[in-house]
Amino acid sequence: MANDQEKEAAARASLKYVKEGQVVGLGTGSTAAFFIRLLAEQVKNGLRIRGIPTSVRSREMAEELGIPLTTLDECQEIAVTVDGADEVDPQLRLIKGGGGAMLREKIVASATKQLVIVADASKQVSVLGKFPLPVEVIQFAQALVAKRITKLGAQVSVRKAADGNPYVTDEKNHILDCHFGKIPDADGLARELSEMPGVVEHGLFIGMASVVLFARGNEIVELRK
Ligand code: A5P
Repeated sequence: MANDQEKEAAARASLKYVKEGQVVGLGTGSTAAFFIRLLAEQVKNGLRIRGIPTSVRSREMAEELGIPLTTLDECQEIAVTVDGADEVDPQLRLIKGGGGAMLREKIVASATKQLVIVADASKQVSVLGKFPLPVEVIQFAQALVAKRITKLGAQVSVRKAADGNPYVTDEKNHILDCHFGKIPDADGLARELSEMPGVVEHGLFIGMASVVLFARGNEIVELRK
């Protein structure tokens, strides 16, 4: 698939940001998975780094591929994190969480000096919001939070797992997928959601990305803060 080639190309371009001896945040999702595979090859070739995965999925993958890991308990400063995104706007604001891991992703990003986002060209947008914004909620508050977000103008649905039951995150919460269509004031919405009781985290990443690497065909476009 063309998209997969672009995802791999963007992931490959991010390798130059990873340096010997660093602690590296390992993102989640199909593009981040390309990065984890490529990083594992470099580790096999002698690169010494330690990874902090942003999900159980990425941790299992990194373990299988032999990437040495550490944890936020042992280390609270991450030099570089490479992760994907669902949408990126011209201010490098992101929607993340399509893969359901935005809570740990945002925690790791917040402890990261340089957050490098890797994406295929389809993720570049002028205004965020076509992709449904994931909001992680405490199960107890799910209906109440859904009602409040609906009042903000979104169509809200509880994310379902393959078996038809609500999708359960690594931290045992549920996800509301909030279809806004367009989010004209992403900063304001981010603040509003963060202040809503019952919301654990939302997928708006504002002011966090340092670099975005988009692959468009064979070309890599690098955007910086
Ligand atoms: C995971 O929770 C997400 O934030 C992913 O980073 C995002 O959904 C991008 O995923 P893909 O690389 O699979 O498109």
